[in-house]
Amino acid sequence: MDADVQDPTWWRSAVIYQVYVRSFADGNGDGTGDLAGVRSRLGYLKELGVDALWFNPWYPSPLADGGYDVSDYRDIHPQFGTLAEAELLIAEALELGIRTIVDIVPNHISDQHPWFQEALASAPGSAARERFWFHPGKGADGGEIPTHWVSSFQGETWTRTTDPDGGPGEWYLHLFTPEQPDLNWNHPDVRREHEDILRFWFDRGVAGVRIDSAALLVKDPDLPEVGERDTHPTEDRDELHDIYRSWRAVADSYPGTRVLVGEIWLPDVDRFAAYLRPDEMHTAFNFDFLARPWGAESFRESIAQTLAAHAPVGAPATWVLSNHDVTRPVTRYGREDSAFAFLAKRFGIPTDPQQGLRRAQAAALLVAALPGSLYIYQGDELGLPEVEDLPRDLIQDPMHFRSGGTDPGRDGCRIPLPWSGAHPPFGFSPPGTATWLPQPDCWATLTVAAQDADPHSTLNLYRRTLGLRRALPELGDGPLAWIDDPAQRVADGILAFRRSPTFVCVVNTGDSPVPLPAHEEVLLASAPLDSDLLPPDTTAWLRTTPDAAASRAVPSRKEQ
Ligand code: GLC
Repeated sequence: MDADVQDPTWWRSAVIYQVYVRSFADGNGDGTGDLAGVRSRLGYLKELGVDALWFNPWYPSPLADGGYDVSDYRDIHPQFGTLAEAELLIAEALELGIRTIVDIVPNHISDQHPWFQEALASAPGSAARERFWFHPGKGADGGEIPTHWVSSFQGETWTRTTDPDGGPGEWYLHLFTPEQPDLNWNHPDVRREHEDILRFWFDRGVAGVRIDSAALLVKDPDLPEVGERDTHPTEDRDELHDIYRSWRAVADSYPGTRVLVGEIWLPDVDRFAAYLRPDEMHTAFNFDFLARPWGAESFRESIAQTLAAHAPVGAPATWVLSNHDVTRPVTRYGREDSAFAFLAKRFGIPTDPQQGLRRAQAAALLVAALPGSLYIYQGDELGLPEVEDLPRDLIQDPMHFRSGGTDPGRDGCRIPLPWSGAHPPFGFSPPGTATWLPQPDCWATLTVAAQDADPHSTLNLYRRTLGLRRALPELGDGPLAWIDDPAQRVADGILAFRRSPTFVCVVNTGDSPVPLPAHEEVLLASAPLDSDLLPPDTTAWLRTTPDAAASRAVPSRKEQ
């Protein structure tokens, strides 16, 4: 089956499930997830109702940053399997109507990659070093760091090398860890190589690529400090757009629609949307919504801004509640301050897990009703919380170490999934296996098997949500109209909108129950309703009678 050819606009409404391979399912019993594990659980993903899978980097890597330090972009990490298995997985998923998106990491490579090893072994000024940002240090002996740019993982962004004779040498740039040297995107080899990597994976049938750190690739060659010039030396530089235009040309040279999805964290929504012009990326992660605190006002502002920024470029929005870098929504929404900031993680922030779960479920229905495509990070469909009490000596994430131990890092959202049984490893690995990160004992009630059997579980709520989203033509890509009924006020914590003259989504983020808007049927609710009242922290999807004013505001699909 070639699903791409059947629906060239699949990506505009798709539900994309993020697979963190290391923690999804362990097929060979070594305590680490792998492709065999994913292949054995494709039925689960089909039943969940997803359209595509995005795999975090699955390439050979020393795993200094969970695989975002790639040493070979054209193979599979031996712990995860083989290239032949990846090809089988891509084909088997497509047989079930599920497309595959791979993660491309263009900003940096592993320090073990042959290019960097060659550069280290070569002299300053050599061709091999030009593929990177090698630079002499400042000061008489070159001992001062070339710039004081701060890493996205905190700390310095340059490391000094040692010359073959043992003396101190040049410095090289790494916006993340020293094990992730930045590539020089002014170099033709770097551009050619990445276009070739895109072709390598498109040739294997992948339907798209997620582009890691997409707004960081180009740097100001004069190496000014941040703030010295009008433009930022390492972020969102205008030259990036040419790179993505050439990537788009590669993607468009393949049959079906092969999509480019950018990881772009930018505060300016218009600068963000510029990457989504028709000849650049198809979509990009909408982190603005993910970072917002729980509440109708902040949600409405984010949704309205997002839709307004996307409209002029004709790209659909994306909705993302979490991923492998951020605190799980169940934990985040249970906190007094439920906003998310990448560098503000700390140990010991209190959370109310019951409230967090209830809000995470309500948020899941909200984002599933918004226009555009939807990302679900593995485990969110089980309502997994962040694991916040990992023994310190088991923490692996470099963010923890680079913060001097104040930031717990991102391991707490990367814990192996619980599939079945009453004790760790909960069917992730064979009984008795130590998983690469330990699972909490209390996850017995959160396993897939336990939730399968409970009609009110988070898993079954997700299945119903995605099933209805697929069945209702007004959901996914398309228009949205706010309902500004005086009885349904944002200031009172109510968010309500139509997706068609007869479909309404209403969220109560406030403290007291509110009457539901007039409706014929409740299609779905994230928690039990109290007759016609919508309780706090609950979302409902309603079938309403067509209303003339609403028909003008939100035309039905047939009329568009
Ligand atoms: C992205 C990834 C993150 C990684 C970083 C460096 O933000 O999502 O996991 O650590 O890039 O590659």
